[in-house]
Amino acid sequence: MVRIPHNVLVRPAERLERAEALDPVAVKIRDMVRRSLHDGTIRDTLHGVPLGHPLHPALAALPIGTWISAGIVDLLAGRHEGSERAARVLIATGLLAAVSAAASGLADYSELHERQLRVGVAHAATNSLAACCYAASLGIRWRGNGRLGRRLALLGLATASTSAYLGGHLAYRQASGANHTEEVPHLLPPGWHPLALLDELADGRPEARLLRDVPVVLLRKGDHVDVLAGRCSHLSGPLHKGEIIRRDGFTCLRCPWHGSTFRVTDGAVVHGPATAPQPRFDVWISDGEVRVRLPGAG
Ligand code: FES
Repeated sequence: MVRIPHNVLVRPAERLERAEALDPVAVKIRDMVRRSLHDGTIRDTLHGVPLGHPLHPALAALPIGTWISAGIVDLLAGRHEGSERAARVLIATGLLAAVSAAASGLADYSELHERQLRVGVAHAATNSLAACCYAASLGIRWRGNGRLGRRLALLGLATASTSAYLGGHLAYRQASGANHTEEVPHLLPPGWHPLALLDELADGRPEARLLRDVPVVLLRKGDHVDVLAGRCSHLSGPLHKGEIIRRDGFTCLRCPWHGSTFRVTDGAVVHGPATAPQPRFDVWISDGEVRVRLPGAG
């Protein structure tokens, strides 16, 4: 049996994470995207806030799917006029779909950490190269040179596959699109837990506490206290260092790292880049003691 060393693929991606030489270009692109994408509905939609998931992986499936299909048509159907036309349609569809995938990817890219940015810029570069190969393939096929067109499409597919691997590394190994609060419900036993004394809490200012090993943030307003998980669902920013703001008539907490904004009453995402809500706790205040539990946890 042939054994593939498991590090063969991941090592280059890990080297990219440490490639400081990429920083000037990575940061320049990030700043350009930030300047052109203002806070608001378009940016939130590109991040995937209305979906409750990042939008980019769903959109990226379209060009990859159509380009793989074009490769299969090229490979199996040969040089017949009908299959050539089918391959052209698939490549053109993939190129169109790549535009929206790139827009959502760039929105996510603009809110990454340094090491993620380095892999992100390589992901964007290989995607752009793949799109160029396919655009050239399409143009050359239209001029009647199917043989060179098919070779360019094959090169495009190899480049897009490399890019897909880097995208997977960014999403899973570097957890750029993951919900960073998913584990909270699994770390706490059911029932009420003592958390703080009401008198210890400053009024109108976020305060950090540890609930067993789980960081939480408390917001006191008079005799009322709201409690959310303390690390931002986007990339674990410290919410107790965030800003309390009003949005659409609700009190919200804005993350200090990339500006994700959560409603304090229920943890809902008001603005991204976070797409997952911030876990909130039921609060019970008795004899000056603040106790919390996870909703529905007994
Ligand atoms: S960590 Fe990115 S918005 Fe909070």
